[in-house]
Amino acid sequence: MTLDGRVAIITGASRGIGFGIAERLASAGMRVALYDVSPLVAEAAAKIAEAGGKAIGIRGDVTSRRDVQAMFDMVESELGPVWLLVNNAGVIPTGPTADMPEEAWDLAMAVDLKGVFLCSQAAIQRMIPHQGGRIVNVSSIAGLIVRTGQVGYCAAKAAVNHFTRCLAIEVAPHGITVNALLPGMTRTELLADSFVARGLNLDDMLGMIPTGRFAEPADHAALIEWFASDAARQVTGQLVCVDGGQSQFMPLMVAKPAT
Ligand SMILES: NC(=O)c1ccc[n+]([C@@H]2O[C@H](COP(=O)([O-])OP(=O)(O)OC[C@H]3O[C@@H](n4cnc5c(N)ncnc54)[C@H](O)[C@@H]3O)[C@@H](O)[C@H]2O)c1
Repeated sequence: MTLDGRVAIITGASRGIGFGIAERLASAGMRVALYDVSPLVAEAAAKIAEAGGKAIGIRGDVTSRRDVQAMFDMVESELGPVWLLVNNAGVIPTGPTADMPEEAWDLAMAVDLKGVFLCSQAAIQRMIPHQGGRIVNVSSIAGLIVRTGQVGYCAAKAAVNHFTRCLAIEVAPHGITVNALLPGMTRTELLADSFVARGLNLDDMLGMIPTGRFAEPADHAALIEWFASDAARQVTGQLVCVDGGQSQFMPLMVAKPAT
């Protein structure tokens, strides 16, 4: 089985990791639908189309059942049956928990968790009749390890990790796999904004990453392409960190040896 001509939906694809995934899948021959609440989604899809890919941009909100259902209908009528859903849209409300507005908590739960449910539900409703498909949730290592000042985000991503495993088992008999990709720190506007919001310098964090580099969207896109392929048909319910070893590592303050 080749990915050529198959249809992928990528949420949150107007920039950052989602756009990188859409670019790579389109260059693998997939017909890609970029879905985003931002009006920049049309420009992002046009950029892929200009480079020779088959891409459409659809504006909508992952937290709205109506938007999501309409988006799947549009994708099916313009591109064909959906083979791959990449749940990538995300937000990072940031600040101390004691002062966290209720709206910030609700936003994290709505976009980072409920959006994954709504899009996955719409996808499996359409994949089950075809007895096949792939879902990949772009979660975060923040759902495994603790990051301070982002309690809603971390809780939502931890829930996405378990959602991934639960849904994988439920839909396995239908030939649908569900996996999660857990990025570590990746150079995107989201990361930069979240560091500025906490008054931190991004480059100070490099020492936390054993490979000595931040991830790039292309690192994640390569794994998504593999998850979508026939080579990964027996892989489901897995959480794979793409983080340069960050989630496994505690930097040591090594004491100077006594002279
Ligand atoms: N950048 C990192 O270091 C990092 C690390 C771990 C996990 N992640 C995860 O990767 C994913 C992508 O992150 P990114 O860094 O590319 O972020 P980004 O902010 O560059 O992109 C996120 C996209 O999601 C869209 N979006 C937000 N709310 C939406 C909604 N309600 N409906 C539809 N689209 C919506 C935004 O408009 C934006 O285009 C997120 O789920 C994030 O949590 C990122």
